[in-house]
Amino acid sequence: MIGCGYLGAVHAASMAHLGHDVIGIDTDAAKVEALAAGRPPFFEPDLPDLLSQGVASGRLRFSTDIADAAGSQVHFVCVGTPQKQGEFAADLRYVDAAFGALRQHVTPGDLVVGKSTVPVGTAEGLAAAYEGTEATLVWNPEFLREGFAVKDTLHPDRLVYGVPDGAAGERAVEVLDDVYASPIAEGSPRMTTDYATAQLVKVAANSFLATKISFINAMAELCEATGADVTALADAIGHDERIGRRFLNAGLGFGGGCLPKDIRAFMARAGELGVDQALSFLREVDAINMRRRVRMVDLAREVCGGSIVGRNVTVLGAAFKPNSDDIRDSPALNVAEQMNLQGARVTVTDPEALENARRRVPDLRYVETVEEAVESAELILLLTEWKQYVELDPEALDGLVAQKNILDGRNVLDPSRWRAAGWTYRALGRP
Ligand code: UDX
Repeated sequence: MIGCGYLGAVHAASMAHLGHDVIGIDTDAAKVEALAAGRPPFFEPDLPDLLSQGVASGRLRFSTDIADAAGSQVHFVCVGTPQKQGEFAADLRYVDAAFGALRQHVTPGDLVVGKSTVPVGTAEGLAAAYEGTEATLVWNPEFLREGFAVKDTLHPDRLVYGVPDGAAGERAVEVLDDVYASPIAEGSPRMTTDYATAQLVKVAANSFLATKISFINAMAELCEATGADVTALADAIGHDERIGRRFLNAGLGFGGGCLPKDIRAFMARAGELGVDQALSFLREVDAINMRRRVRMVDLAREVCGGSIVGRNVTVLGAAFKPNSDDIRDSPALNVAEQMNLQGARVTVTDPEALENARRRVPDLRYVETVEEAVESAELILLLTEWKQYVELDPEALDGLVAQKNILDGRNVLDPSRWRAAGWTYRALGRP
């Protein structure tokens, strides 16, 4: 496994769990040290057990030295493809470095399996660069969700192999089927495609999901203008099986290390391919999503009577979604930051993401518990729907807060319950 971030570390531990001998390689020595000791360097449910079992069994090892890839028959490349600074395009420096360094350690017959999310056309270029090695390149996109990464890896909705034509491609399918024998036996559908399709499946899926979220958030804007309730609207349209209720949760919108940068990189790539019009709708998907964050701050200002300057504001949640400590492009942290810049006294709490948040945005006040966070608050914003926040008892906060104002940024609280307890409850897209 080359690259041991959210994707590679989970894939490494999962492959060891399936019975394979795995070596995880990463250039970050601190990360390698933690993983080798069986400690995940980030929060992900089920990963600690899988990792420590793998390490204890001797089937899972870690190294900073790419030369340790020699001797493996299958090399998964799982490095990140972040957004380029100041541009929409993906930064491929880690992909280029990983494939470049690995090239001299592969032997004839090896499979080199790209899992990173890349602009379509990247795999074709990498396959050309590997000509002469007699290793076969496969593109095998990964669809795991943070928070469910282990489950999604061991029981994927589908497996997609982008393979070259001919005997090498056929052999690659056999080898990968062997690697993934267990999920395939348990019913995960498996498709083989050409390289271009395999690379596109990933960004098309993420674009569809982002579009679904922005669609419902656009409807939330209509609901706000008309007094309608977007949660009831989502339930009603979601009963149509062609639409489906999942990913129709309106609120603060999407963030994280995937959806935002993937739709932007996809637009950039479409431009390079001369088909930018085909994806111009994604510009709107992105714009609707970013408007949610601004609207949230506006709502906070409204509830505070026109100004948030000097007001004590509590933000529940810093991670981009629950069950994760990932704060990359986190809507919650972005709103906290905006309110701080606009003069509010912002206190943030989160069960897992405080350390990452503090490192990224040091000038906010961070506290460990909800009780500390809400003390003297004039306004509470629930921005990441961690279970413990969804289940908060409005009565239990009595006597701690200065004013009973709550903004539900994820439409997860019961408005009647909070109102009955004397709170001013407001949400995006709800009357
Ligand atoms: C996503 C894809 O789901 C996954 O298949 C891909 O491999 C990587 O990108 P992830 O970023 O981990 O996974 O999280 P996901 O659960 O998809 O949520 C993304 C964002 O959308 C979060 O910020 C979440 O809060 C938001 N979201 C999700 C909504 O705002 N509304 C919804 O209805 C669903």
